[in-house]
Amino acid sequence: MKTLNLDLTHAVYFAEKQYKDLGASATEALTTLVKGNGAGNDFLGWVKLPEETPTDLLDRINKTAARLRDNCDYVVCVGIGGSYLGAKAVISALQGCFDDYYAPVAGSPKVLFAGQNIGEEYMHDLQNLLKDKRFGIIVISKSGTTTEPAIAFRMLKEQLEAQAGKDAAKDLIVAITDAAKGALRTLAIQEGYETYVIPDNVGGRFSVLTPVGLLPIAVAGHDITKLVAGAADMARTVAHPGEDNPAEEYARMRNALYQSGKKIEILVNFNPKLHYFSEWWKQLYGESEGKEGKGIFPASVDLTTDLHSMGQWIQEGERTIFETVISVKEPAVEKRIPSDEQNLDGINYLAGKRVDEVNKMAELGTLVAHTDGAVPNIRIEVHALDEYTLGQLIYFFEFACGVSGYMLGVNPFNQPGVEAYKKNMFALLEKPGYEKETEAIKARLAK
Ligand code: PA5
Repeated sequence: MKTLNLDLTHAVYFAEKQYKDLGASATEALTTLVKGNGAGNDFLGWVKLPEETPTDLLDRINKTAARLRDNCDYVVCVGIGGSYLGAKAVISALQGCFDDYYAPVAGSPKVLFAGQNIGEEYMHDLQNLLKDKRFGIIVISKSGTTTEPAIAFRMLKEQLEAQAGKDAAKDLIVAITDAAKGALRTLAIQEGYETYVIPDNVGGRFSVLTPVGLLPIAVAGHDITKLVAGAADMARTVAHPGEDNPAEEYARMRNALYQSGKKIEILVNFNPKLHYFSEWWKQLYGESEGKEGKGIFPASVDLTTDLHSMGQWIQEGERTIFETVISVKEPAVEKRIPSDEQNLDGINYLAGKRVDEVNKMAELGTLVAHTDGAVPNIRIEVHALDEYTLGQLIYFFEFACGVSGYMLGVNPFNQPGVEAYKKNMFALLEKPGYEKETEAIKARLAK
């Protein structure tokens, strides 16, 4: 098994004392997580999930995926937050960078996303694309009551039924939701959709290895068995405390840096395929740790792209940041830079080199520059971008997040803060049941 390699060499010396002092706390947090006796322990279903995923669940998901692949040119995944980002992250990391620009071919639908925003133009453009096309819908909502996906699903369902007929549409819609509760469950039963359950004890941002992520990933044509196997192997790797446990060490280091005044962590990639992986990671850490006036602010950059925009800030702005770099050792393909007789651009010194060789030197040069600029550097190297490795990375970050949240002294498995905007939006939209809030918010805004 090729595992990820965590390198703290260029981080430890920025917070040596805190790192040393936090050894016992990291072990204690990990033990609490594994024993399941900490805050939020009714949401620990994800801890054993990869090792305990039954083969028949994977088989059933693959069967549903095959049906959608056979009958659709586009499959729209409707969901937001944890019901969206995991699948988007994995599919973006595994697909070709320009796959979305190719026309779909039979048996290999394009996987699209909706319900992750309330953009009117977004829905307009999506519905235009789907006009008269063979499409299906995977609607995902744990609560079954979230407004954004509910709007998108209502619009797409209407379109699908109009285009394919109500009967056929039923077989092209799959709902992933709570086992019993919520409007989506009721609707799915009434309409006769195939359904999958999001386990009660798995929160949205920890749900990518449930059908929430696995079905869309399988529809996109990727091997979910390998993804789960990677996660299961990582679960075994990080289960026991010790300085050789990469998840414990990552959690320990980021807390040490936080205590030393580094309040912002940027997740860095040198591979554009990892852009959405960073989006998934930001939700995981932001929603898990940002509470009670505490928490490292999770940000991200795509390099070298953002060295030409955010590079200045990272190098010389307020010294409150550290970076965690995900470095992919082996690109899946090989491309070399050609020689040019005239050499007007002056880059013949690079001729014959792989593009990745230049990228790796950019990565190394950035590490030296940033550490010179007092930006601690945590480096996570993975062998390649494939299903197995992504499974490992997902579980590594999930587990480290649980450990890190406990070290910080928060409940990493709730998200009380996300309700505030919803309450105001419902009041402003005069949702039945919100009459008092409507009156209060209108009076407040009229001042
Ligand atoms: O992590 C979370 O719990 C959230 O981001 C949810 O996933 C998000 O709000 C969507 O919720 P639901 O799946 O209930 O529609």
